[in-house]
Amino acid sequence: MSSGLAARVRKKLMECGERRGEIERAALIIRAGGLVAFPTETVYGLGANALNERAVALIYEAKGRPSDNPIIVHVSNIAMVEEMAELNSEARLLMEEFWPGPLSLVLKAKLTVPVKTRGGLATVAVRMPDNALALALIEAAGVPIAAPSANISGRPSPTDAHAVKQDLGDSVAVVLDGGATKVGLESTVLDVSGERLLLLRPGGISEEEIEKVLGVEILPARSEEEKKRSPGTRYRHYAPNVPLLLVKEDEEFWPEVEASGKKWAWLGVNEPRSAPYRKILFADEAEYARELFRALRILEKSGAEIIIAEPPNEKGIGTALKDRLTRAAENC
Ligand code: TXA
Ligand code: MG
Repeated sequence: MSSGLAARVRKKLMECGERRGEIERAALIIRAGGLVAFPTETVYGLGANALNERAVALIYEAKGRPSDNPIIVHVSNIAMVEEMAELNSEARLLMEEFWPGPLSLVLKAKLTVPVKTRGGLATVAVRMPDNALALALIEAAGVPIAAPSANISGRPSPTDAHAVKQDLGDSVAVVLDGGATKVGLESTVLDVSGERLLLLRPGGISEEEIEKVLGVEILPARSEEEKKRSPGTRYRHYAPNVPLLLVKEDEEFWPEVEASGKKWAWLGVNEPRSAPYRKILFADEAEYARELFRALRILEKSGAEIIIAEPPNEKGIGTALKDRLTRAAENC
């Protein structure tokens, strides 16, 4: 591993010394083929040994996840990636620049990665989480950990241990509690396995940041073949149990909503134009992104009948935020 990245990981690992016992027990469960939920800097993950097909099958079962939706594999060093995938120069550059951090790279898979982990694809997505507990768990387990977000498929992702337990209850024996996650939206998924770079999901690292490092422009997926490379986008996602409406900038929707007599809740950075039944206001867009999933879980229990969300600016994390809000709205 290059010295900069290795040093960053070593420093992170020193942060959770006093939780050794708990981490060792969780690592034992992973090695024995069981499931452990753990925090990352983005959202909580539901982890299993990525190289153990039966263990990975338990993840699909617990989440009710479609079997053709591949799972991101979490690593704590580059050697783990080299065991599982073909690395190219772009991937190495991005890892050195953004890892540990919220960037998942889709690479050509080697046969060591079970078909289940890859959802049947010839590629595998890998990332190194920027979270001390997550890194320590992977190190202690000694194997790469496959982990989707630790929610029931289709629900908002969990950003604290309570949300994990709310969704998964008894199907996960151990939840490592690392408090609230720091980014709050999932990682960026970038496919670097083909001729052209493809952004499959906007997330914690922006398109502009990636372009700056590589000196090339990332173009949207064009052909049907390119669009198919992102299986996750086919499914219902991020949806609370209460319908969500993402308004456009100047839309006059209050009179209509009020006339309907429905109890409406407001989500945004600015005050709504009239009084809602409930509102959650964020200090800025970063907080809106960080707290979105928690806010959705709070509002669906508030008695509100519809959630109205203010549109974010599409810059930096705002692009990922807009993506999640749009998909939550589409799915209601
Ligand atoms: O921040 C995150 O990425 C979190 C934490 C736990 O690391 N994980 C997460 O996983 O969001 P999940 O399963 O909820 O979303 C993974 C996304 C899905 O849309 C999936 O289709 C896509 O990544 N994906 C995984 N492997 C892929 C591959 N080989 N090719 C294309 N897309 C892939
Ligand atoms: Mg998910």
